[in-house]
Amino acid sequence: MADRGRGLLDCSTMTPETPPRSPPPGSRDAGIVVCPVRGCGAPLAWGERTLRCPAGHSFDRARSGHVHLLLVQDRRSKHPGDSAAVVRARRRLVEAGAADAVADRVAEMLREARVGPGARVLDAGCGEGFLLRRLRATLGVEPWGVDISSAAVELAAKALPAGRWIVANADRRLPFAGGAFAAVLAIAARRNFAEYARLLAPDGRLVLGVPAADDLVELREAVQGRADRRDRTAGLLEALAPHFRLERQATARSRRRLDHPALADLLAVTYRAGRAGVQRRLAELDALDVTFAMDLVVAIPASAT
Ligand SMILES: C[S@@+](CC[C@H](N)C(=O)[O-])C[C@H]1O[C@@H](n2cnc3c(N)ncnc32)[C@H](O)[C@@H]1O
Ligand SMILES: [Zn+2]
Repeated sequence: MADRGRGLLDCSTMTPETPPRSPPPGSRDAGIVVCPVRGCGAPLAWGERTLRCPAGHSFDRARSGHVHLLLVQDRRSKHPGDSAAVVRARRRLVEAGAADAVADRVAEMLREARVGPGARVLDAGCGEGFLLRRLRATLGVEPWGVDISSAAVELAAKALPAGRWIVANADRRLPFAGGAFAAVLAIAARRNFAEYARLLAPDGRLVLGVPAADDLVELREAVQGRADRRDRTAGLLEALAPHFRLERQATARSRRRLDHPALADLLAVTYRAGRAGVQRRLAELDALDVTFAMDLVVAIPASAT
């Protein structure tokens, strides 16, 4: 096996000559992150600059403190996931309040489930990390974020150095020990339910979010000429059933007036910007009232009593 994971990793985030800005997480984290090398899976010990397993596989921490554990064979392109431009657009939107209703409702759901100070919470598909920043501020949870996009994880780590930020593929086995998390969140993200069930403590909670039927309905009508009002929750619950039991459902909804640049950002983060005719119709919009609506589901591992 290659020493230091050489040849296996995307080295773009490695800066061995500069120490990371954030200190290594404390001993509470021992054994939580495991080696992603096939057939290894041993616990990785966090150091200032590297994470290392007993077999000698080691992974450098980037300057921002995040760790790249995505092996070459676990990605389809050199820069998988959201691009830097999409990630920056999402950051601008959340800073303008676009995700406040979702963050408030998720915090309320976790509070009800007694996920509180110090609880380890994994956001799978964390993007630029907004939800974990808010949950740390409101509930005091210990934030763990994973995303396949290096650009997203880097931005998340810079904004919250106290978090644990990992680049990995949520469609594969994630590099964490089983039962490590009090909650796993997947908001508009991947649906690897078997894996999320493995990662949760027996009394843990999975929180899922899918866009509701009226999400962005005004924008979709304006730029696509029509808006399907598709309910995604029934399909979600069906896919969830083999692994989880439904505990609670709710919808986070808000309406905001967005100016032209914010509408352009919204089209970018919903991957619509490149569609035929969209830019032409966007050019005609000065501002628009837009509905943000996310169907949220809280579920308990089916194995829990
Ligand atoms: C629609 S965004 C949602 C981001 C965030 N959860 C939110 O609610 O704003 C989807 C995120 O999933 C990430 N992603 C896509 N495929 C992934 C995969 N296979 N594993 C992990 N993350 C992935 C993207 O990079 C992006 O950050
Ligand atoms: Zn190893």
